[in-house]
Amino acid sequence: MLKGRATAEGTRAYASRFPRLPGNFRPMIGLDVSSIGIGTYLGEPDEETDREYEGAIAAALRGGINLVDTAVNYRFQRGERTIGRAIADLVNRGELRREEVIVATKGGYITFDGEVPPNPRAWFEQQFVRSGIVGPNDMVEGSHCMTPRWLTAMLELSRANLGLETIDIYYLHNPETQLNAVPRAEFLSRIREAFEMLERAAADGKIGVYGTATWNGYRVAATERAWLSLDELWRVAGEVGGEHHHFRALQLPYNLAMPEAVTLANQPVNQQRGTTLAVASAMGIGVCASASLLQGRLAKGLPPILREAFDRFGSDAQRSIQFVRSTPGINVALVGMKSAAHVADTLATAAHPPATQEQLMKLFQPAKS
Ligand SMILES: NC(=O)c1ccc[n+]([C@@H]2O[C@H](COP(=O)([O-])OP(=O)(O)OC[C@H]3O[C@@H](n4cnc5c(N)ncnc54)[C@H](OP(=O)(O)O)[C@@H]3O)[C@@H](O)[C@H]2O)c1
Repeated sequence: MLKGRATAEGTRAYASRFPRLPGNFRPMIGLDVSSIGIGTYLGEPDEETDREYEGAIAAALRGGINLVDTAVNYRFQRGERTIGRAIADLVNRGELRREEVIVATKGGYITFDGEVPPNPRAWFEQQFVRSGIVGPNDMVEGSHCMTPRWLTAMLELSRANLGLETIDIYYLHNPETQLNAVPRAEFLSRIREAFEMLERAAADGKIGVYGTATWNGYRVAATERAWLSLDELWRVAGEVGGEHHHFRALQLPYNLAMPEAVTLANQPVNQQRGTTLAVASAMGIGVCASASLLQGRLAKGLPPILREAFDRFGSDAQRSIQFVRSTPGINVALVGMKSAAHVADTLATAAHPPATQEQLMKLFQPAKS
């Protein structure tokens, strides 16, 4: 296992190696983090995809991207194992130091081991039920669990898969899934137990900080069942971890077609309501935008107004990523990439400074007649 974690000194040194990427590195959770992170969600659970991802991750880390995002269940643990190999290889070659890279992963979903077993139900029984890791009432929708015992097992699996002693950001994966099955009071009590476990993991040096990686939770109205209140989560974190608690990161989808993080004021604070980005920013929570390209659909065929607003960019993918990384309150635009050619195209975006507020506002002006 690689010892250490991302540090302020290490990430600053990494950023200083890329003077040609102005405005690419920003402060987040006390580190210098690239405005684009590489995601590892999509793709088949096979060796060919492993090889592609390994090449893309190495190209990203060599090219100015120092945040890698994954989850224990992505491609049935192959996502994490591929990242582990890519980082270990660059470290062994002397091209990267562990302290320079921020690795984020997630726990919450059930995962197989590299492939779907012949009898998934029997496999799950054998692995998790007989060993007592999962109890009869722990699972929601047959796929999601966030008990301390489950998260402890998943965290150990992720550390082994990644070959890292410390995971820099550990997310509860789509915790709002639990709200489909249990009342909000029970949900908050489950969150409290999960946060207690994560605070212990931070104290033991197994994680740096923790957070919530979500799909609907922060994007829906406060009247919706799946809605997550940042204020509530922040309060729970303070109660279990004190003033210096480690709830410091969140993830939500944000892109040209899913703009709710800046358009929906769904987070109550101090008798007012703010957007998720405004409230997270005021709390000092780092925000990573997932699905920056709407899972590839925003990489081609953007309307002319967007092409005109970002006319200095060479591809629609670059324009879409520029929109995300330039939005105030977004620290990192996550882009899923298993192709090294896509890494090169995406990295060309980081050669431009983020768009100004004035440039962004042009998107919202009526078209000229
Ligand atoms: N709830 C959650 O926690 C959650 C949900 C979704 C996503 N995420 C995270 O966010 C990351 C990003 O989201 P995503 O992967 O779902 O979708 P995405 O980033 O919106 O899109 C990824 C797709 O875009 C393609 N692509 C990447 N760069 C390109 C370029 N320059 N030109 C053309 N096509 C390009 C990729 O192709 P190739 O792969 O072939 O390069 C891939 O098919 C995920 O990988 C994951 O880490 C988290």
